[in-house]
Amino acid sequence: MKPIREQIKDKPWLGWALFLLTIVVVFLLGLLASSVMERRAEAVFAYTPKVEHSPTEPRNEVWGQNFPKEYQSYMRTKDTTFASKYNGSTMIDMLEVDPRLVVLWAGYGFAKDYNQGRGHMYAIEDLHKSLRTGGPTEDKHSPMPSTCWTCKSPDVPRLMAEMGPAEFYKGKWDEKGPEVMNNIGCADCHDSKTMNLKVTRPALVEAFERMGKDINDATHQEMRSLVCAQCHVEYYFNKNTEHAKGVPYLTFPWDKGMSVEAMEEYYDEIEFADWTHKLSKAPMLKAQHPGYEVYLTGVHASRGVSCADCHMPYKSEGGTKFTDHHIQSPLNNVANSCQVCHREETAQLVADVYERQDRIIENRDKLEELIVRMHVEAKTAWDLGATEQQMKDILMDIRHAQWRWDYAAASHGGSFHSPVETGRVISTGITVAQEGRIKLARLLADLGHNEEVPYPDITTKAKAQEFIGLPVEKLQEEKDNFLKNLLPKWKEEAKKREDGYAVSMK
Ligand code: HEC
Ligand code: HEC
Ligand code: HEC
Ligand code: HEC
Repeated sequence: MKPIREQIKDKPWLGWALFLLTIVVVFLLGLLASSVMERRAEAVFAYTPKVEHSPTEPRNEVWGQNFPKEYQSYMRTKDTTFASKYNGSTMIDMLEVDPRLVVLWAGYGFAKDYNQGRGHMYAIEDLHKSLRTGGPTEDKHSPMPSTCWTCKSPDVPRLMAEMGPAEFYKGKWDEKGPEVMNNIGCADCHDSKTMNLKVTRPALVEAFERMGKDINDATHQEMRSLVCAQCHVEYYFNKNTEHAKGVPYLTFPWDKGMSVEAMEEYYDEIEFADWTHKLSKAPMLKAQHPGYEVYLTGVHASRGVSCADCHMPYKSEGGTKFTDHHIQSPLNNVANSCQVCHREETAQLVADVYERQDRIIENRDKLEELIVRMHVEAKTAWDLGATEQQMKDILMDIRHAQWRWDYAAASHGGSFHSPVETGRVISTGITVAQEGRIKLARLLADLGHNEEVPYPDITTKAKAQEFIGLPVEKLQEEKDNFLKNLLPKWKEEAKKREDGYAVSMK
């Protein structure tokens, strides 16, 4: 072929054709660019504030006017229809499913009532209704401290800004009742000016400080997990802080590390106990929900996958991409939650999750049975006149075995987040329990009891609660009275207060 210059010399119209073609291409490129800009503008438009509110505005619906897509998807945490094999958004009465739990928690609030968690939009309602918070009246307090509100509501950062954390943690649960009304929401995770992710709970910041780390150094990807780590973690109420003596100050026991052993050592060293077990009299620990700690030991965390990647995947709607705020079981949304990284079929990915859960639960159930036996055998030993000295080591074994069981069981999602670590924790629990039971068998023999202590009939929740002597009907009556008489007053008071908040249209 001849060079283009010579071809144009032969056929001048070719030059003009090329010229016109260039104009058309430039025009089309221009159109494309303008369309991209428009989409961008749309995206920016969606974020142009329609209302102006205070940085501590607790009401999701007010923030929602500025960010309708995020708000509407967040409201879908109200949906309770999805059930996976073990989890999902339906409320499950765990004491009914597994009555052994009643015996494990004898003497503690969880034996009264324990449900598998629902969506964030139920945080307040479920706490109001739980038998654990009791039936406060105008002149009778709840058994729980105010600290229990900490992971339930954006009213918490508001109150902490007003009165400081120590004052917030002070007092009984019901004393802050009218103040905490909004379910977990925008102000828990976002800065209202920039909408950047923000840690609003001092316990997480303080735990980082004690580990010699500054949470402000966290990367953007780490923040996508740390906002969850404000609540989905192990914690305890520390009444011995320097700055707030006597106040149940929310504290994460991470000073020695986050493993089951490191936290156990931390608690043992300060001789902390959540309660004394009703049957065995062991000084017990209640693991809360070390979800973040267990997640960190898994392969996804080590590859930099955050909580939000699976539980808050991106979603496209009308040309805009946004973060799906419908926080839920990722098994209800495998396409966006898993298949952005994995190319396996949905059924295969779900089967992978179930397989890990099945295997862990098999051993977890075995450990539960061993611990039930330990409590019952220890009670028999006490009844036969065992001394404190004889029981000392055994009670520590009970404490440690149950702590390990609970660390694994309460790290919701742990069987998938980190199956190897969760399995390891349960096997160490089984070892501790077996060692304890050998000591118990010897002691019982010394005390003249040389046969098996019968396993109690705890085949239903009702039977188990009767076995530990829990007056559930009375507790329910007090609760119903609270829901009918005091709660409506709290709600009225909250509404009056909120009506006074400054919100202006832009
Ligand atoms: C302010 C505390 C708080 C924060 C922050 C928080 N959660 Fe939760 N989360 C809760 C509570 C409380 C529940 C249980 C609500 C209930 O059952 O009433 C819950 C429930 C859940 C559930 C169960 C929902 C269901 O439908 O079964 C998932 C999953 C979850 N959270 C994931 C996350 C993720 C992921 C993050 C971070 C992006 C996060 N949470 C941040 C407190 C929090
Ligand atoms: C449990 C924590 C949490 C809560 C509660 C929460 N968000 Fe988010 N939000 C996130 C995370 C995580 C992202 C992703 C941020 C990123 O990667 O930069 C996000 C992103 C956003 C963005 C940025 C645009 C986008 O979609 O990615 C907006 C706007 C937003 N959220 C609004 C809201 C509003 C409005 C509410 C209340 C209805 C809310 N968020 C509640 C965690 C939360
Ligand atoms: C952001 C990317 C990403 C997302 C989202 C993601 N994964 Fe993964 N997943 C990985 C990486 C990376 C590995 C490690 C594999 C490797 O390095 O070879 C992994 C490993 C796994 C493994 C094998 C490890 C184990 O635990 O035994 C399974 C199973 C798995 N993913 C399932 C899922 C499921 C189910 C989901 C959705 C709920 C999901 N993944 C979401 C990136 C992701
Ligand atoms: C790789 C994806 C992935 C990551 C990362 C991940 N999760 Fe999960 N999560 C899952 C899957 C899958 C389940 C099991 C859901 C089921 O059984 O229905 C689950 C279960 C849960 C549950 C129990 C849900 C229920 O319905 O009761 C909670 C709570 C939870 N995760 C919180 C978190 C938090 C907090 C983080 C970060 C610290 C996190 N997850 C990180 C995939 C993930």
